[in-house]
Amino acid sequence: MHLRAATAADLPFLTEMLLEACNWDGSPWYDEEKARGDDHAWRYLADWPRASDFGVIAELDGSPAGATWGRLLTADRPGYGYIADDVPELTLGVSAAFRRRGVARAVLTELIAQARAASYAQLSLSVDPDNPARGLYESLGFRKVGVVGTSDTMVLDL
Ligand SMILES: CC(C)(COP(=O)(O)OP(=O)(O)OC[C@H]1O[C@@H](n2cnc3c(N)ncnc32)[C@H](O)[C@@H]1OP(=O)(O)O)[C@@H](O)C(=O)NCCC(=O)NCCS
Repeated sequence: MHLRAATAADLPFLTEMLLEACNWDGSPWYDEEKARGDDHAWRYLADWPRASDFGVIAELDGSPAGATWGRLLTADRPGYGYIADDVPELTLGVSAAFRRRGVARAVLTELIAQARAASYAQLSLSVDPDNPARGLYESLGFRKVGVVGTSDTMVLDL
């Protein structure tokens, strides 16, 4: 597995991964047109890359396999897992063909290291309690700090 920084050229793949996260239970809730037209969903990628964005792409067999990225959102236009203006919120997705091969754990581990190196105090995210990703987040040290709608907000202290 090859890990590298996400760049401006990765927007199409990051969009695919955002759709994986939106459709995490296999239901086709979102396609790209709907995601781009939904201000709340698209705020995770609008204007990518902003100066403070940071992301990790995993490549397997020469193809992008999964990604995670962190973005600072603001109280007036928060993400689903918003905590504070200075706490980046994560998005995570792995293409179906590459799952259960350690991609998610690898990209998250690298992103957490980057967040520490950038001196952030915390990372946050939003996850449905039934999503298998929840156990992965817990194993990396994230803890539940609240509920928004039906999803848990989780935070990692860095
Ligand atoms: C959740 C997701 C990111 C996991 O990606 P992955 O690359 O398959 O995960 P990994 O192979 O790194 O596995 C990480 C851990 O999660 C567990 N896991 C992953 N998928 C699982 C599943 N479907 N059921 C049960 N456990 C699962 C693995 O057993 C592994 O645990 P281990 O390291 O102790 O063995 C991927 O299924 C996905 O993209 N889902 C849709 C998008 C999504 O839900 N994003 C998160 C939104 S909050």
